Amino acid sequence: MSKLFVTGRQKLSGEVCVQGAKNSALPILAATLLTNGENTIHNCPQLSDIEASVRILRYLGCDVRRCGKTLLVKSDDVDKYDIPDELMRKTRSSIVFLGAVLARTGKARLTFPGGCEIGPRPIDLHLKALRKMGVVIKEKHGFLECEAPKGLCGAKITLSFPSVGATEDIMIAACLANGTTTIINAAREPEICDLADFLSECGAQIYGAGEGVIIIDGVGRLDCTNHTIIPDRIVAATLMACAAVTGSSITLKGIVSNHIASTVPVFEDAGCTVKISRGNLKFSAPQQLESMKTIRTMPYPGFPTDAQAPLLAASCVARGTTVFVENIFENRYRHTTELVRMGANIHTEGKVAVIEGVSSLYGAKVQATDLRGAAALIVAGLCAEGVTEIGGIKYLERGYEGLELILSKLGANIKKI
Ligand code: EPZ
Repeated sequence: MSKLFVTGRQKLSGEVCVQGAKNSALPILAATLLTNGENTIHNCPQLSDIEASVRILRYLGCDVRRCGKTLLVKSDDVDKYDIPDELMRKTRSSIVFLGAVLARTGKARLTFPGGCEIGPRPIDLHLKALRKMGVVIKEKHGFLECEAPKGLCGAKITLSFPSVGATEDIMIAACLANGTTTIINAAREPEICDLADFLSECGAQIYGAGEGVIIIDGVGRLDCTNHTIIPDRIVAATLMACAAVTGSSITLKGIVSNHIASTVPVFEDAGCTVKISRGNLKFSAPQQLESMKTIRTMPYPGFPTDAQAPLLAASCVARGTTVFVENIFENRYRHTTELVRMGANIHTEGKVAVIEGVSSLYGAKVQATDLRGAAALIVAGLCAEGVTEIGGIKYLERGYEGLELILSKLGANIKKI
């Protein structure tokens, strides 16, 4: 199992082109199942979660080819509707294939996607919505047997929580349904808008993406398109955290400013300066970070839960107290025990984590247990005295494309062995 070795206290400098958004590419790849012809998807990051989705597409009968950061996906020969357990379990986000397979074939058979390190990850909102759209769903022995005997029908669906995955599943299922689907209390994340843009480019009739109410008028067919994935706002926040803890100035290229409107002010509270112009973000950090005050994770446009771990790591060496309130997932503080091993002063109680800044962290042997927790340990390693050995970097590779190479190019002393 490879590990990362980070020798801290190296300044970073230079510029980075931010990778395409994992959480936009995943639902868009599922949505290609609905189209005729060959889709060209640009700026698709090379990640294990993306490869897991490609394996599912190929299993279902799609022809998928990768040329660098571009994926070519042709779904004309899709001939299956069941996704085997070993493919479903690779990534939690595979549940978004449910709506796509149903829309394409009228039935679906797949296992419950596993929970994961950050919480049980229920799918009740997905199933309740699809049942309203005429899907008969039998849950047995961990399998979902789904069928839409009269085809998918438009419905008015109110989500009790603006679930990203449920919103995506419904949007995809609704594109080819009979009639109109209205999603009330829909998720507003930028990845929802990117999926809506992709589907609209293919001929779908979707209105209101990015707002709380999304309306989809079902159409007869969707045709392939040429689409470029939006930049990854969580990777951008992670890179800013790396610069913040090393007192560095870096430039991030390919930024959409309103996608990071809730994370930039946190860095500014900590004393960093951020200037954005024409898609480029100039970031510079002070030698000593100030407290980030109180950060509550919320659905977009609130502070993103996925940025909590890397920014919590940065707050460990800020002057004063920082408080995080994790409102989205039940178990998203597992990285704090590893940060404490590096000398951080953190107390967690349920949703709340209280961080008392310390003057320095110290290199240690630590273990990542989830994707964003792995990023947090790198942030901590970059400012720790000595060498930090990070295990479990398979989690990192789910969502960060060559992060250690990017940081090394910026001047960090980081090696994968
Ligand atoms: C997406 O997960 C992202 N994953 C997550 O990113 C992200 O943290 C999350 O949205 C919130 O922004 C992808 O897009 C692939 P949710 P998703 O449905 O869709 C509860 C990362 O690090 N819920 O908005 O699973 C759920 O338990 C990953 O890149 C139900 O109760 O998130 C959670 O508490 C981690 N019932 C909350 O809603 C349901 O049917 C938010 O979940 C669905 C969700």
